[in-house]
Amino acid sequence: MILDPFGIDTTHCLIGGEWAPCKSGETLALHDPSDGSPLCAIARGDAPDIDCAVAAADMAMEGEWGRMAAAQRGRILHRIGLLVGENIEPLARLEAQDVGKPLKQARADVIALARYMEFYAGAADKIHGATIPYLDGYTVYTLREPHGVTGHIIPWNYPMQIIGRSVGAALAMGNACVLKPAEEACLTALAFGELARQAGLPAGALNIVPGQGGEAGAALAAHPGVRHLSFTGSVAVGRRIQAAAAENLVPVTLELGGKSPQLVFADADIDAALPFLVNAGIQNAGQTCSASSRILVHESRFDEVVRAMAERYRALRAGPALADFDLGPLVSARQKSIVEGYLDKGRDLTVAARGTIDGDAPAGGAYVAPVLFTGAAPDHVLAQDEIFGPVQVVIPFADEAEALAIANGTPFGLVASVWTADGARQMRLARALRAGQVFLNNYGAGGGVELPFGGTGLSGHGREKGFEALYGFSTLKTVAALHG
Ligand code: NAI
Ligand code: MG
Repeated sequence: MILDPFGIDTTHCLIGGEWAPCKSGETLALHDPSDGSPLCAIARGDAPDIDCAVAAADMAMEGEWGRMAAAQRGRILHRIGLLVGENIEPLARLEAQDVGKPLKQARADVIALARYMEFYAGAADKIHGATIPYLDGYTVYTLREPHGVTGHIIPWNYPMQIIGRSVGAALAMGNACVLKPAEEACLTALAFGELARQAGLPAGALNIVPGQGGEAGAALAAHPGVRHLSFTGSVAVGRRIQAAAAENLVPVTLELGGKSPQLVFADADIDAALPFLVNAGIQNAGQTCSASSRILVHESRFDEVVRAMAERYRALRAGPALADFDLGPLVSARQKSIVEGYLDKGRDLTVAARGTIDGDAPAGGAYVAPVLFTGAAPDHVLAQDEIFGPVQVVIPFADEAEALAIANGTPFGLVASVWTADGARQMRLARALRAGQVFLNNYGAGGGVELPFGGTGLSGHGREKGFEALYGFSTLKTVAALHG
């Protein structure tokens, strides 16, 4: 299929600035999760294609891209961002059909991608080394340098945002990227590649090889020519990526999701909290690394919060992505069966409320009605595992110490939020919560591209987004001159 209006063949890879089929000529089928129908075919890239992509990236580092002034890299990123911004509707529609996300969420993702490009465009020539006072007769300074070829393995839940935060930052620092999008959804990645080409990004600075995780993904992770790996996805695959990185002794950034809590204290402004409590669980049908799947509420407000959340849940509707309901389908029948498996494990819990699936939603779609549970002990599987679906559990606590113990009582540590008017409690908990981001009286802070993001524990390590990402996507060289 020719990707409208980008004019590229969806079965092609982008290598060295050229679109072409993968070497085997094989393809994989993409499906529209809103009705289960085949959408189009994409390339089934594998090790030989990754070899070519890494070689093309290497050539870019040796050539024009590697020598380009930082300000010029910034100008190109800026142009990419402008082109993305001129294509909000077509990109949003592609993402809605490919991932199944409601159009308004898909539009927000395109705008975020444009904003990432704008942010990293501006940052490209503003990160630099230092001069270090040292012994008499020496001049010492540091140089911030790109790693070289960087590998980016991304999932299907937010392709555009994750391209923005990882490829955007890597390009700003002058790396040449090889991107392996997810086999479930990769159309906006391909469109982005074409827009980057049109914006004047030199050949080989961004290469895109679609394919399966165990084939193209594994080949990219293991490739000795890749000097840095950035991965977002499951814990199980994150372990493999880190093991592959260990073989080649290259740094790796892992963003592996979580079980992020919101802590609601007795003095919280419940009206202000409510939209955040619910939206953080059902946005993108719960398929969000930073989804808030655990709501911890002081026992004095527990019934009130459950009642208010339940009322909102009963009004939630899931339906086709292009019809723009509160929720779309899940990304695939497979993801739906994973989530249904968890709902089954929640049979011993109380269903406080359930949303509905729109009556006209096609039977072949991967729909799951959102479910709000109570009655889960903090160690219940639904209060411990990342479900990656529209499912939240509400758990009571008696005091701050218990709230903290429950909040920190999973192997994850990505995001947490605290709802309280007590400033001292805010400060204590902001320090004590095990998380890469803590929000006080909000959740997510609008997803700002400026805000460093990443986890601890099973949520992974390393930081993307914000200025911080630029340090991860570069390396520091110290130069010491003895001149007397
Ligand atoms: P996954 O971790 O298998 O896939 C993510 C990416 O890794 C895809 O591009 C995939 O092709 C690639 N991949 C898979 N196996 C690989 C391998 N052996 N070597 C290199 N790359 C490989 O995640 P999946 O199967 O899509 O979802 C399973 C669960 O993972 C979800 O239910 C959710 O809990 C979690 N997940 C978390 C995400 C997050 O944002 N942190 C995103 C996607 C999934
Ligand atoms: Mg997988």
